[in-house]
Amino acid sequence: MRTVVFGASGEIGRRLGETLQNRGIEVVAAHRSAGVDVYTGTGVARACAGADVVVDCVNVTTTRAKVAVDFFGTAARRIAEGAVTAGVGRVVCLSIINAADPAVNAKFGYYRGKGEQERVYRELLGPDVLRVVHSAQWFELAEQLLARTSLGPVAVVPRMRCRPLAAADAADAVADAALEPARGDVEVAGPEVIDLADLAKDVARQDHSPRWVVPVRIGGAAFRTNGLLPRGEFVQAATTVEKWLAGRGGQVTR
Ligand SMILES: NC(=O)c1ccc[n+]([C@@H]2O[C@H](COP(=O)([O-])OP(=O)(O)OC[C@H]3O[C@@H](n4cnc5c(N)ncnc54)[C@H](OP(=O)(O)O)[C@@H]3O)[C@@H](O)[C@H]2O)c1
Repeated sequence: MRTVVFGASGEIGRRLGETLQNRGIEVVAAHRSAGVDVYTGTGVARACAGADVVVDCVNVTTTRAKVAVDFFGTAARRIAEGAVTAGVGRVVCLSIINAADPAVNAKFGYYRGKGEQERVYRELLGPDVLRVVHSAQWFELAEQLLARTSLGPVAVVPRMRCRPLAAADAADAVADAALEPARGDVEVAGPEVIDLADLAKDVARQDHSPRWVVPVRIGGAAFRTNGLLPRGEFVQAATTVEKWLAGRGGQVTR
């Protein structure tokens, strides 16, 4: 079986590629340094040729709705069209729990882009081909937010009440969605409800970071209440916050 991973060099794409290879699946790693650009369309048709499954794990780092909607919508269109032309039997789109819900994404431009991504895939592919994996936020997002939101001695991290999971567990769930004969969308989330800003504080303490982590309210009420939590059945990932922190090494002193 041949699977194309678009975004194969990213946080989850790397893990997904390894997971699939460990399951004996041939992986085509598609990203810009491999000559594939999902925004311009360069190399997409070549990557999809002869594939059984295509997985979209591409990303753009922005908080601007215009940029996110343009990138995710264009990339989804290029990938879906490439998959249809090549006769690919399954396309998996990796999205975020409730990101397409206007009540959740109204004040968060990045999630509006994820909404557009899901909309374009549903417009171009039937339910027999498309599977959307709606993942909760990953523990690793706390590390990324600390790195991206630092202003001198301060890291300004958004309050996000969610059920985060390890990116490795998310990669496992995406691999299952890609390979199992089952159809329909899937939600995957972690074992505990926490605020991601609190996890960022734990990560900073563990890393002996001199930065002062300041939680901020962004994204509207849905970010701080229940908007990011699964509303129905979901696949529960096994790795707990404590186990994930222990795997990073070093102590967390609270
Ligand atoms: N972080 C979370 O907590 C979370 C939770 C749920 C779902 N997700 C979703 O998971 C997906 C992947 O996120 P991530 O954090 O793993 O992303 P990431 O680490 O930022 O990696 C992005 C990937 O996309 C590729 N890419 C970007 N622009 C491209 C282009 N024009 N053409 C081809 N490839 C391109 C990058 O490769 P090159 O730069 O080499 O091209 C890289 O492989 C996103 O859609 C995100 O919304 C994330």
